[in-house]
Amino acid sequence: MNDSTCALAQQGAEDALTQPFAGTSPYDAYVHASVLNSLQHPLTEAPDEMGFVVTTQVMELWFTLIVHEWRMAATAFAKDDLNAAVDALVRSRRALTALNATWGPLAALTPAQFNGFRAAFGTASGFQSAMYRHIEFLLGDKSDSMLRMHRGDPAVHEALSDTHREPSLYDQVLGYLHRQGLPVPEHVRERDVTAPYCCDPGVVGVWRRIYRGPQHHPLLALGELLTDIAELVQRWRHDHVMVVRRAMGAKSGSAGSTGLAWLEQRAARPVFPELWEVRGDI
Ligand code: HEM
Repeated sequence: MNDSTCALAQQGAEDALTQPFAGTSPYDAYVHASVLNSLQHPLTEAPDEMGFVVTTQVMELWFTLIVHEWRMAATAFAKDDLNAAVDALVRSRRALTALNATWGPLAALTPAQFNGFRAAFGTASGFQSAMYRHIEFLLGDKSDSMLRMHRGDPAVHEALSDTHREPSLYDQVLGYLHRQGLPVPEHVRERDVTAPYCCDPGVVGVWRRIYRGPQHHPLLALGELLTDIAELVQRWRHDHVMVVRRAMGAKSGSAGSTGLAWLEQRAARPVFPELWEVRGDI
């Protein structure tokens, strides 16, 4: 084929590729990109506000994916399907890594840049993110007051109530370990799952047994996968604190908290504490 027939053949292929769609493109019908891309409404002309809105929206989408994967994992544990649960947790680990890489556009906001649009969003705050609360509830960090806060929005409240009422991802892990023959104490298995879960010496004992056992055991691999997830959640919280410290120092938060001091306390809350405690026993 000479150069000119080659170019003609290529043009033919492009013509086929660029045939007008009858209506919405199949891409847009599937991904709803035009809906997504119509949702950015900065309230000021401040150059950094668009980055703030988009970054926050992108993080909300990662939250949605993480919640989806953890629900899949919880359902799989309830069915004793370790492979499906691990697959979902591995996907969630990748989503968490992507979430944490999303801070870029906000990572170095100066106080003046942040002040350029801060007053415009009033009392809005990520603290009011319902999807973030789903994440915390799935980790076992249940809170009546964080649920109550959303009472004014029935659809959001109902969805969050479901996650509050149901056993957390971690509860499902413990149930699974028990059915595998490990001695998860009855008072842990029968506990009120709407209460926040922290630590139980009997559960630490279960993880100790797993971690002292064969080092290539699937349950040890599960412990490490959950530890990765815990670490990535903690990293998100710490990166958030760092962004806040750079953008606004120790000023109070838009939702009404003391700001940095309050966030530092929240960030210090452990995720899956028993998995961290056991490391000191090995
Ligand atoms: C310049 C960027 C940011 C600043 C200065 C900032 C500041 C704050 C402050 C001060 C709080 C404490 C509550 C309050 O009084 O408002 C808070 C909470 C929170 N923010 Fe941000 N934030 C920023 C970006 C983000 C982004 C992009 C997200 C992603 C959705 C986010 C999610 C959250 C969440 C989930 C909480 C609640 C944390 C908890 O309950 O432990 N923030 N933020």
